[in-house]
Order: sequence, then structure tokens, then C-alpha cells
Amino acid sequence: MTMENTSYDVILRNASVLDGTGKPAFRADVAIQGERLARIGSLELAEATQEIDARGLTVAPGFIDVHAHDDAELIARPQMTPKLTQGVTTVIAGNCGISGAPYSHPSSPSGLLRLVFKSDAFMARTFEEFLSKVRAAEPAINSAFLTGHSTLRIQVMGDDLGRTATAAEIRQMRTLLTDCLEQGSLGLSTGLFYPPARAASTQEVIEIAAPLRAHQGIYVTHMRNEADRVIESLEESLEIGHAAGVPVVISHHKCMGHRNFGRSTETLALLRRARARQPVALDVYPYTAGSSVLHVDLVSMASKTLLTWCDPHPEYVGRDLGEVASELGCTPVEAVARLEPAGAVYFFMDEADIVRIMRSPEAMIGSDGMPADQHPHPRLWGTFPRVLGRYVREQNVLPLHEAVHRMTGLAAQRFGLRNRGTVEVGNYADLCVFDPGTILDAATFEQPTQPAIGIHYVFVNGQMALEKGTPTASRAGKVLTRNPH
Ligand code: ZN
Ligand code: CU
Repeated sequence: MTMENTSYDVILRNASVLDGTGKPAFRADVAIQGERLARIGSLELAEATQEIDARGLTVAPGFIDVHAHDDAELIARPQMTPKLTQGVTTVIAGNCGISGAPYSHPSSPSGLLRLVFKSDAFMARTFEEFLSKVRAAEPAINSAFLTGHSTLRIQVMGDDLGRTATAAEIRQMRTLLTDCLEQGSLGLSTGLFYPPARAASTQEVIEIAAPLRAHQGIYVTHMRNEADRVIESLEESLEIGHAAGVPVVISHHKCMGHRNFGRSTETLALLRRARARQPVALDVYPYTAGSSVLHVDLVSMASKTLLTWCDPHPEYVGRDLGEVASELGCTPVEAVARLEPAGAVYFFMDEADIVRIMRSPEAMIGSDGMPADQHPHPRLWGTFPRVLGRYVREQNVLPLHEAVHRMTGLAAQRFGLRNRGTVEVGNYADLCVFDPGTILDAATFEQPTQPAIGIHYVFVNGQMALEKGTPTASRAGKVLTRNPH
């Protein structure tokens, strides 16, 4: 007879377990030993160094924020409080075409890169070097990274970005992407909407994406257009993924602008048909407002615009663009030129679209939070608890087990994160322990940096990172790569 280990590091007792696979909750005790989940079941006879009464609480896998821009944040503020307090244990960064590597310019990051990187201290010449910077900072949560097409273009083409790349430049970008993939990048992200990549042809992206398949990478895209041309942009994204032979993830899927409200019925029908020939998933955040750089095209589509950062006039941050414009004695469009470079929150989506997208198959949750913003969109601090509180508990948009699956098991599968995303013996002990009766976001557009409520404990790789709602000193996050060794 083998001796059973009846003493663990931690036991969470009498929990309602949502294991992240999409199956409904069951009652169990959950034991942690070292970095891993050691037992799940009835552990009445076992004991542990630390025992937690989880009666009335739900134990779920730690949430995976599949759409993050925490590349610099993980290094600058490795406590990662905005994410940890939401129960997020892993962020996937390098989204929207913007990544910290490969970058070796003598000048500090400008333009779109400034959205994420205020300094090149957070960027690196190679993917591996970038990961070393993140590891050295010892973040409190796990992180994984995509390689950004815009970063590749800036690295290879410099300032000459208003055209599609030459064959020689495409070869260079492909080589750089291959290096990143070999060093553990999850795949390629694009931001074809933004100036550094706007002039790139579909063919350019297809050719750069060629190495993805052999490395089991994925293609993740902030599409060229999320407004009037959203269907054409989805078709382009699908074409790129199909040509590259890899799964596609549509980032922060939305239909922007009043005249496109309701068009998620069309976009989701298109994705449903596409799934017959290729894998395609998406992510969504639970707000009718987006956030990006301050840009006239976006301002003109929004019913209201709030400034999130503003280099020339920091005194206007947090304020309504229309009000600022009347104080300046000009139109909002003229004000944009005087306030740039800046960032903004835009109210330009339809609530019914958000709900329809959230319910659709293969929908994951991504915050798209902008941690460097002075007055950020509240999604940075509120996304996950808002889905579980407002959309699941209050509005019944999804069953709780399904919503948790989209934040955990589904995300780990689609992004290739091994041994994460489900509460399963042998997996890493990344856990979020929350009260499904009270969980809710507290961050608002007026006060965007308020921690969410209802999150009791968070474990990252077996270490308690949040205790009774308060971050601990634990910094047990790991850098996750597609090919762990
Ligand atoms: Zn984006
Ligand atoms: Cu983004």
C-alpha cells in the first residue's frame, strides 16, 4: 500500500469549484502542494499548513486576460494590482501590433508605441531579452506575449511606414518573427487600423505570418476597420489566418459607430460560417466605450469622448473633449490637433452588440486595459468582475460556469498555455476565490482606478498573491512561452 500524502501546503475547504472546463460547479476541497494542485475532492482526513474555509465561495482557475497591454507595466509596476485585484493570474500582452521586441532604435518610442511604452527601458532588441527584463522584475502574475506587426515594421522600416513593405523588408520581418517564435512568442498580433501598419497590404501580413504554422503560433488582430467596413476586415483577418494555416483571434470585437449598431448579427454569422473551414475565436470587453489614441476618426464616431492622457495639456485629462473644445473656443476636431499626442475613451458601441458578442461561441474576455494612462478606461481595473457581476449575476447573459470557462479554460486552450486554465490535479495552482453573490467592478469612468469587490483570495503558482482582498508581497508570476522548457 502506498503512503498517501495527507499534509499539504494549502487546503481550501468546502468550496464550490468551477473547474474552468465549462462544467457546472461541484462541491470539493482543493489542496495545493508547492506550485501545483495536488488533490481535489473530499479531504476531511488531510491537513495543511494553511487551511482556508471557502464555504460560500467559488474556487475557479485564475482568470486569463487574453487582451492586455501590460508589456511595460509588468516591468514598471510588477505588483500588477489592477489585474491581481480582479482575480487575473495571467495576462497575454503584445496585442494590437504593439510589442516590446524586437526594438533597437536609438530614439525613444514614439507614435503608437507610446500607447504602451513610455520609455525604451521597457523594450528590447530580442524577444528573449524582453522576457529577461520581465523575469527580472518578478511580476506578481504570469505573462505571455505576442509579437507585434507594428513593432516589426518600425524595427525594419523605420519612419517610412506609409507604404507596404518591400520583398526584402518582408523577409527581414519574417526572420525576426521566426526568432521571436523560437524564443517563446505565442504568435503574431497586428493593428492594421493604426498608422504604423495601415499601409500594409493583406499580402504583406500573409507573407510575414508564414512562420507561424511551423511554430504552432496564432494570428491575433486589431482589425483594419471595426466600423463601416467591419465585414471586409473580418474577411481579411480570416484570409490571413487561412493562408498562414493558423487559428485567428479577433481582438476586442465590436461594431463601432451609431450606424453600425446591431451589425454583430452579421459579423457573428460570418464567423459561424468561417468555422467550417478554419478555427477562429475572439475577445470582448464588457463596456460600450472603447479607448485608444486621440484620433478624429474615432471622435467623429463617438457620442462622447473623454481624455485619458494628454502630453501638451495634462490639465485636461479625465475631461470631456466637447467641454475642453468649448473652453478652447474651437470645434472638437480642431481641439484634437491641439491636444495630440493624447489618448481617449470613446462611447461608440451598442449594449446589445456587447451582449450578443459575449454570448457567441469562442468569445473570450480581454480587458484591453491601458495601464500607462493617467486616467484610464475603467476596463483596466474592472473587466472580469464586471462580466461576472453585471452580466452574469444581474443580467443572466451567461451561466456562471460558462463565463468562467471563457475567462480560463477556453483562453488557455486557444493561446496554448499548458497546464493552466483548469482546476485539475497536476496543473499549476493559479486560482481565483470569489463570492459569486457580491463580485462586481467598482472602477467607473469618473473614478477608474478602484479595485473590484468580491475577490477574496488569489493564488499564483501556489503562492497566495491576494489575501482577503488585499495584495500580499508574493511575486510568483512566471513568463509563459509557447514551448516551455
Ligand atoms: Zn486594439
Ligand atoms: Cu488592444
